[in-house]
Amino acid sequence: MIKQNGRTIHLMGKEVSYVMVINNDGDLINFHMGKKIADRDYASMKEQWAEGCGMMSNTIALDVYPQEYPSYGLSDLRNPAYQIVNKFGHPNAKLTVRDIIIHENEVVKVKDMPSLYKGDCKADTLEVVLYDEAIEFEAHLYYTVFENYNVIARHAVLINKADEDIELSSAYSMSLDFPRADYDMVHFAGAWLRERDMIRTPLQLGAKVEACNARGASGHQINPFAMICSRDADENNGEVFGLSLVYSGNHSTVATVDQFGFLRVQQGINPLSFRWILKKDEEFCTPQSIICYSDKGFGKMSRDMHDVVRNNIMTSAFTHKERPILINNWEGTYFDFNEKKLLAIAKKAQKVGIELFVLDDGWFGQRNDDHRGLGDWFVNKKKLPSGIDGLAEKVNKLDMKFGLWFEPEMVNPDSDLYRAHPDWAVKIPERTPVEIRQQLVLDLTKPEVRDYIVKAVSDILSTANIEYVKWDMNRQITDMPCLGYNHKYTLGFYDIMHRIVTAFPNILFEGCSSGGGRYDLGVLAYMPQFWASDNSDAGCRFKIQYTTSMCYPIYSIGSHVTAVPNHQCGRTTRLKTRGDVAYMGAFGYELDITKCTDNEIEEIKAQVEFEKKVRSLMCEGDFYRLVNPYESNYCSWETVSKDKKKVFLFAGKSMAVAYDKNPKIKLQGLCPDKLYKNTATGEVYGGDLLMNRGIDVGFKGDDFATQVILFEEA
Ligand code: DGJ
Repeated sequence: MIKQNGRTIHLMGKEVSYVMVINNDGDLINFHMGKKIADRDYASMKEQWAEGCGMMSNTIALDVYPQEYPSYGLSDLRNPAYQIVNKFGHPNAKLTVRDIIIHENEVVKVKDMPSLYKGDCKADTLEVVLYDEAIEFEAHLYYTVFENYNVIARHAVLINKADEDIELSSAYSMSLDFPRADYDMVHFAGAWLRERDMIRTPLQLGAKVEACNARGASGHQINPFAMICSRDADENNGEVFGLSLVYSGNHSTVATVDQFGFLRVQQGINPLSFRWILKKDEEFCTPQSIICYSDKGFGKMSRDMHDVVRNNIMTSAFTHKERPILINNWEGTYFDFNEKKLLAIAKKAQKVGIELFVLDDGWFGQRNDDHRGLGDWFVNKKKLPSGIDGLAEKVNKLDMKFGLWFEPEMVNPDSDLYRAHPDWAVKIPERTPVEIRQQLVLDLTKPEVRDYIVKAVSDILSTANIEYVKWDMNRQITDMPCLGYNHKYTLGFYDIMHRIVTAFPNILFEGCSSGGGRYDLGVLAYMPQFWASDNSDAGCRFKIQYTTSMCYPIYSIGSHVTAVPNHQCGRTTRLKTRGDVAYMGAFGYELDITKCTDNEIEEIKAQVEFEKKVRSLMCEGDFYRLVNPYESNYCSWETVSKDKKKVFLFAGKSMAVAYDKNPKIKLQGLCPDKLYKNTATGEVYGGDLLMNRGIDVGFKGDDFATQVILFEEA
């Protein structure tokens, strides 16, 4: 709901208030973002910031105002929300409110980029029009609030009204000033195979903490999700502001604390290497930033975020559907396969109940290793004499679905595509382009390149019965032919995504980027699942999956059981451990199942059966992180069905401890009055006992021992 009360504008979500006031000079001031407050006129309330202070008290001291979209200079000398060179060639602007528009029962979408839509509940959008008459520059700030969620989604559109060009060198999606800074910032950093470590930094007077990525895609190194939280915040306590940018390119989340101990937080496109020229009446639209508020710790924020993402961001028809259990051949065969080998894997997989066979890299052109072939999207008949259509047919005959891998944004210099169109790869004219993994990036800013990709992929998808696609992207974008290139590339990527997924609504798409290198809400808008990491070791996955769940719905997390010793870190874990960890997410296998022993096959059969019982919980349930693997030797999580009748519990221990006492795991989110039966042992427990006393899950084994329990209402 959005209400205007004099010069106060109040957005109300389920339990959240976002209050702005317009001061006498027309500046748009943030008054409150947090737990719901009453709907009153707050514009007349006297506060020190409203008066100005110190040296600047005789003027309008924007430096002490909590603002909604501040510029640099003209009395605010903090980090600006945007920077321009105006029509006079000066680097300043001052935007004041010109109009307030309330779009009732409407979600204003972001142009050419994915953003929230009106899904499962009423949503309203506020549009504030700001203007700087002196330089003829306009900004429209959009705020969408949802009735069922504690979420405010923001984006901005900047328009040049002058005859002369203006230059934008930064434009954040949101800027939020807090009247205090006793908060921490949490961001998710890492690398290939080590995605999304949770890093917590206390915010201090004068500090600037920036979590940003400038590697082309949203990146392994820093995820475009961060949190601002109170010092005491943990899973169940404290204030948390989750900030997620719906964007797949270079991004930045920055927190600065000023001289008075006030905090400014901004999120949007990374200003590094960004520049955009606006001619008369041209506009620049930022991506959307989603702010999700919780007054009860990270857990509540995550559950709210998961629901809003599942119901209002993801567009795939598979979002709310149980996904097929897959087997992918990558770690099983790498490039060394032929049709016979693949069919042997599929056949054995089908016998244990696996439902989808996925053919990964190496099926096209001269792609016998990662040195060649990218771009040549025609089947390699030497390896696959009956073609993709023939192979799909044979797999279908086994009563399995068939899925295929692509990496359409890339080209190897050793490929027919590159030989025919060397100008289609991203290049700085005077320089040799940088190769990573022997590949170059196709220039998605060129319409003919996008058309080629859409056609090449569509041709294959429409000639064979392909029901799943893994869309990979395996390198960073290093060569920048112009400032702002990365944003143009990202828009090109979204154009392709939009065209492909709308043309093939019955295909389940899974994103991938050397593992989790482009795991963001921009991609999830098109593809409901993402390969979380190339690191498939169950022990490492304790942490990777735990932190990924902070923002992303758990059923979006691609998680597979792979062979041991693990190919990435060399560790040997039990098959049970690997299965138990992989249940949390879009479950599958990635090994040569023909090499499994009879005992392993029996165990896999049981896992597949168990997965079929629990996957609806991963799809629609509420997720609780119970024990943090960063803080203890244990790790535990739980999913509860919305009707609280079914519960999946996972617990794992990292290192074996001699003469250890296993912890009592306390469950959450159950109905205290209900009785819950452990479906494996038949034991019955009260919901109150499970939540207030906790249970010993009974780990068996040494390092990385795990246990899973499915409870059902007794
Ligand atoms: C990187 C992905 O993350 C892997 O799963 C696999 O698909 C390879 N690319 C194939 O080249």
